Amino acid sequence: MAAELIATTATKKVFHDGEKAIKVFNAEFPKAEVLNEALISARVEEIGGINVPRVLEVGVFENQWSITFDFIEGKTLQQLMDENPEKLPEYMEQMVNLHLNVMSKHCPHLNKLKDKISKQIQDIEELGDVTRYDMRTQLDSMPKHTKLCHGDFNPSNIIVKEDGTMFVLDWVHATQGNASADVARTYLLFCLQDQNKADMYMNLFCKKTGTAKKYVQSWLPIVAAAQLSKKRPEEAELLNKWAGVCDYQ
Ligand SMILES: Nc1ncnc2c1ncn2[C@@H]1O[C@H](COP(=O)(O)OP(=O)(O)OP(=O)(O)O)[C@@H](O)[C@H]1O
Ligand SMILES: [Mg+2]
Repeated sequence: MAAELIATTATKKVFHDGEKAIKVFNAEFPKAEVLNEALISARVEEIGGINVPRVLEVGVFENQWSITFDFIEGKTLQQLMDENPEKLPEYMEQMVNLHLNVMSKHCPHLNKLKDKISKQIQDIEELGDVTRYDMRTQLDSMPKHTKLCHGDFNPSNIIVKEDGTMFVLDWVHATQGNASADVARTYLLFCLQDQNKADMYMNLFCKKTGTAKKYVQSWLPIVAAAQLSKKRPEEAELLNKWAGVCDYQ
């Protein structure tokens, strides 16, 4: 069977070939980043307890690096949310439970969330020296945790099989750190498409874990600034707004 193209972004294409999903990176994509994605995915796979596609192979063809994973047959949670809006509360509940399962794990060889965010903030020159300094100082004062954080936990990175089992994809941004920071990032990613979904997510997480909303919100400016470093033009306006809502005392 010929490989079928299933997803395209600016830097990569994903193909479905039988039981495999093959992520092919553009020729200019840094080799170290491809190997890093494969390494992080393998580390998460090895801790067990989370359904993830296994890394099967890392390869190179005509100057293009690729990572081959198990193909997970199903629909993304994003597709399901779009197709069945009446089931949104149920999907949100499942997504928060899945997130809690991820964050109950530890993966000690991953980078620290705080180190990653600190570097990302340092790289966004348009924030200015003073803001970057203030943000990094605030980041330093936030509690240090070592929970497994996905870093891009959103419905397009979750595949739901026909029997309802959920698989989590796209671990390249995973770190170990504070769960509320990872929830703040999911909140922001939802805000970029739908404020109602963002609020549902935040409320459910806080209710289930007994976390004060204010505490998750205190991560928002920092996480928004870090997300700006991904330089996605469509996200810039909202993220700049969030990054500016910072209460430095
Ligand atoms: N192992 C897999 N099995 C089934 N479908 C997959 C698999 N990997 C990727 N896909 C499909 O391809 C889409 C994009 O893949 P993925 O999320 O890994 O990359 P990405 O979103 O382009 O990466 P990034 O968020 O780093 O830019 C997914 O939303 C999913 O629909
Ligand atoms: Mg993705």
